[in-house]
Amino acid sequence: MTSAEIRQSFLDFFKSKQHAIVPSSSLMPTAPNLLFTNAGMNQFVPYFLGDQTAPWKRVADTQKCIRAGGKHNDLEDVGFDTYHHTMFEMLGNWSFGDYFKRESLTWGWELLTKVWGIPPKRLFATVYSPDKAKGDPSDFDQEAYDIWAKIFKDAGLDPAVHIVNGNKKDNFWMMGDTGPCGPCSEIHFNLLESDDEAAGRANVNSSSPRCIEIWNHVFIQFNANADGTFAPLAAKHVDTGMGFERVAGIHATTNGFRDFAAEPSNYNADVFKPTFDKLTELSGKIYTKSVPTKRDSLTAQEQIDIAFRVLADHARCVSCAIADGILPGNEGRNYVIRRILRRAIMYGQKNLGLKTGDFASLVAPVIESLGNVFPELKTQRVMVEKAIRAEEESFGSTLGRGLDLFWQGATLLERAEVDTGPSIQVGRTYVEIGEAIMRDGKLVRIISGEFAFLLSDTYGFPLDMTQVLAVERGIEVDAKGFERFMEEQRNRGRAARKTDVIVASTEGEAVAAATKFVGYQIDATHATHSKLVDVVKTEKDAYLVFDQTPFYAEMGGQVGDTGHALINGAKVDILDTIKDKSGRHLH
Ligand code: ALA
Repeated sequence: MTSAEIRQSFLDFFKSKQHAIVPSSSLMPTAPNLLFTNAGMNQFVPYFLGDQTAPWKRVADTQKCIRAGGKHNDLEDVGFDTYHHTMFEMLGNWSFGDYFKRESLTWGWELLTKVWGIPPKRLFATVYSPDKAKGDPSDFDQEAYDIWAKIFKDAGLDPAVHIVNGNKKDNFWMMGDTGPCGPCSEIHFNLLESDDEAAGRANVNSSSPRCIEIWNHVFIQFNANADGTFAPLAAKHVDTGMGFERVAGIHATTNGFRDFAAEPSNYNADVFKPTFDKLTELSGKIYTKSVPTKRDSLTAQEQIDIAFRVLADHARCVSCAIADGILPGNEGRNYVIRRILRRAIMYGQKNLGLKTGDFASLVAPVIESLGNVFPELKTQRVMVEKAIRAEEESFGSTLGRGLDLFWQGATLLERAEVDTGPSIQVGRTYVEIGEAIMRDGKLVRIISGEFAFLLSDTYGFPLDMTQVLAVERGIEVDAKGFERFMEEQRNRGRAARKTDVIVASTEGEAVAAATKFVGYQIDATHATHSKLVDVVKTEKDAYLVFDQTPFYAEMGGQVGDTGHALINGAKVDILDTIKDKSGRHLH
């Protein structure tokens, strides 16, 4: 099967079990507490909570998910291993108060072993077993255990070997700190060369690339409250998620689940091929599948192979995010996309010698492999390419100089004696690079918050990019110190911005009519329909002016309101509200 055939086969299987096949939802989440859509179930939250009635009892789909930032964050592993992604497709099936554990697990087994022919001996199931000493909620999932025990026995396998218990950390799935959740049962695939069952079992949940989780079946029964309690839901639901790239990668590596000699890798799946081919064309370099065993002292080829994986992953993530309206920016989820994009640009330049514009040219192969599944990639292609190109141009102009400064600083730090901290001259001032200290009998070098901040502020290096560069040389970064510098800058910015905008909007004539404040007249949702009448632009920000507003503006020692506006369906975060001299509320 090709990757596309595997995806289709999943959907067809659930169609045959009376599931409606629905499209992926946007990566822009509908739930307020999510950075990105991070699971297939996100779009169905109102059905789980009983806030809305689902139009179907059973659905299945493939959902674009981003796990980079927030509760589920895999960014750091991307490129260094072969099975984590920033963006991945989650194949899933759902029951809204309809079927429950028995059907879900039995069908799961049927698809994997009967339809796809995965050797049963290589599969292991985990079951929820709360660690009461740690305060884990709910009880041992006897029901799931019994269903699995029968499935394994019927297949001639020993349940005591093939069922593994796990506590809340591994077997109680939560979307975020709040929201629908419940015990889960994961299916793990032993990819060791031998199908020895004891060895397979020992590898479950051990972070080995030779035994990975491929499918999670969650039994949604609770709503997690903000105070840490779990309220039982009125109905019981099923929410499953299968890692599409994992299954496609294993299928490709093992010649259709038959030959387990080779090292498994998601990147063997044909969904990545067009992008890898393009990278070879652009860089003249060849991907050799090497995976580093450590993060520092990498060989030249390891660096190339990491970059191939990073760029292939990040090109998909950034393209899909932008196509869904999440553009690179300075705040929140937009900043995560900017970080991912800059990281890709950095790896491309440093490890593959790519030039400005090369990363944007990966959009075409991404569309070639995903455009039929996620048609918005095709319709938004021009915007996606433009946004990436613009970031390549702006960041590309400082990246080289930033890397030079980083290398100079890191080299000085590597030469520093214990308990000393070298500085570097930048313009007319000296910046402390970091220090070399002894910790637990080991020499440790740490880049200072100030130096990391300089790289961020002057050269646009996101902290995690500096960390990636530092780790390659066995150096740490003082992230807390960095945050202190950022906070100071934010405070300075806030003060400056207010002066700046008030000056901008009060210069010259009185500009317009005052905004009508309706904050005391509206209902408990604190929302109102308004007309956008002006946008006041300053060097750093844009301020929206509406004809009427429920947003209280900073006045008399009371802070301005924050919230959001929906403008033609697009959500715009409002970070502050102030008033200018004509009495307009500037959002
Ligand atoms: N929502 C479940 C997960 O993401 C299926 O693992």
